[in-house]
Amino acid sequence: MKASFFITGTDTGIGKTLVTAGLARALVSRGYDVGVMKPITSGAVRRGMGLVSEDAEYLLKAAGLHDPAMLVSPVCLEPPLAPLAVTMLTGQKVEMAGIIASFTALRNMHSIMLVEGIGGLMVPIRRGYSVLNLVLEMDVPLIIVARPNLGTINHTWMTVDCARTRGVSVAGIVFNHCENMPETAAERTNPDVIRRVCDVPVLGSVPFIEETDAASLPVEPFLPVAEKLLAVSEIARPD
Ligand SMILES: Nc1ncnc2c1ncn2[C@@H]1O[C@H](COP(=O)(O)OP(=O)(O)OP(=O)(O)O)[C@@H](O)[C@H]1O
Ligand SMILES: [Mg+2]
Repeated sequence: MKASFFITGTDTGIGKTLVTAGLARALVSRGYDVGVMKPITSGAVRRGMGLVSEDAEYLLKAAGLHDPAMLVSPVCLEPPLAPLAVTMLTGQKVEMAGIIASFTALRNMHSIMLVEGIGGLMVPIRRGYSVLNLVLEMDVPLIIVARPNLGTINHTWMTVDCARTRGVSVAGIVFNHCENMPETAAERTNPDVIRRVCDVPVLGSVPFIEETDAASLPVEPFLPVAEKLLAVSEIARPD
């Protein structure tokens, strides 16, 4: 049994890394062999002679993995910009072949792959090639991380529609509470409205979490989301 998911967001900074990490921990706790990947990182940090993806490091630590950075985060760009903007600024181009080869290698090593995207679906990577094209090349369904509050219906529906128009399937939507705020009427009603208008499974909501250190990220808030993902994707119990 092999399954892969591409975790995108309705925006940048929406909680893709945290949700991917939590899902990985929850699936590992259920006995699955989970791999993680962050194919392109912008805003990578300089350490020693090279550039490091802090998102990839967080995902590896959360999942308890030691896979090589050259597979998990094959492309690290220093400017905190969309990849095409980095190319326009510095001339450095993102080569897709190496990314697909790294993904294929990791997918062969693990039974479930969780791949964290870059910003949202229409972030340009090369001229005429966005994150959505990468998803199409990887041929994997999406998990969409969305804000829970007012305004999210518009962004979430646009993201689902954008995926479906290009033939990408959506495994489900996760509402993530990045902020510790009292629940509003919009937050109470949005999951049902979005389920209805988008006709996509809502995998659940992740509450605001006080302790977000990768090694001690609590598993409990992510277990219902992981169980729903396993159910809607018809993934068998691990051997
Ligand atoms: N449920 C949550 N509870 C508490 N803090 C959260 C939660 N979700 C996200 N955060 C915090 O919000 C910030 C942004 O989250 P995260 O880095 O996961 O977003 P992202 O979508 O991966 O961003 P990027 O587009 O830069 O990759 C982080 O500091 C993270 O710890
Ligand atoms: Mg991230």
